[in-house]
Amino acid sequence: MRELRVEGTSYPLLRHLTPPVVAVTTVAGERTNGMIVNSAQRASLVPSVPRISVYILKPHVTHEMIMESGVFAVHLLRNDQWDVIWQLGLRSARDVPNKLDGLELHTGVTGCPLLKDCMASFECRVINAMDAGAATFFLADIVKDHPGTDGEPMTSPYFRQNMPPDRVRAYESNLAHAMEYLEPLSRSIDAVGWKGPRNRSE
Ligand SMILES: Cc1cc2nc3c(=O)[nH]c(=O)nc-3n(C[C@H](O)[C@H](O)[C@H](O)COP(=O)(O)O)c2cc1C
Repeated sequence: MRELRVEGTSYPLLRHLTPPVVAVTTVAGERTNGMIVNSAQRASLVPSVPRISVYILKPHVTHEMIMESGVFAVHLLRNDQWDVIWQLGLRSARDVPNKLDGLELHTGVTGCPLLKDCMASFECRVINAMDAGAATFFLADIVKDHPGTDGEPMTSPYFRQNMPPDRVRAYESNLAHAMEYLEPLSRSIDAVGWKGPRNRSE
């Protein structure tokens, strides 16, 4: 894989800034979907106004669906939940009819499908969005949280250090392929904020 470099910096050092590996689910009309992100961050220091931000690439089906409905759920995964990561993070809903098949789910107050097995899930409603060229940063209020199991969270360092070799190949090849078409998109920013979900009735 081509080494990615930021001028004056070794790109791998940026991995120290990476949040844990979590599952994001969403709903739009009749469709439900899920994906994996390592870009979900606490986005408020005020406990009474809890917020999360996520960075989601535009080609992903989940991106299109969050744009449409304005809701998503973030799930903290334990570090033994590899199967969920492979199921949601290596294949797009463009290629698999229902990515959530086989996972135990319940429906949240936002309508999002929620994984029953996780350390916690946070249902979110988008309040702002920032275009990042190839992706969108969604800033969202946590509207409901659901406690789950005990365990150790799937941190990004743990994920990188313990990924089986055959999965490393699939993951790195997905990344390399994505970089080719994302690089040109990354330079074109539309400095417009969130106007609400596309399916909002008012
Ligand atoms: C460990 C890991 C971290 C990922 N982090 C992100 C991320 O932060 N943002 C993103 O857009 N995609 C990320 N992805 C890629 C998506 O999860 C993946 O491409 C997914 O198949 C998209 O699904 P969709 O097209 O059905 O929405 C990550 C994948 C893995 C395995």
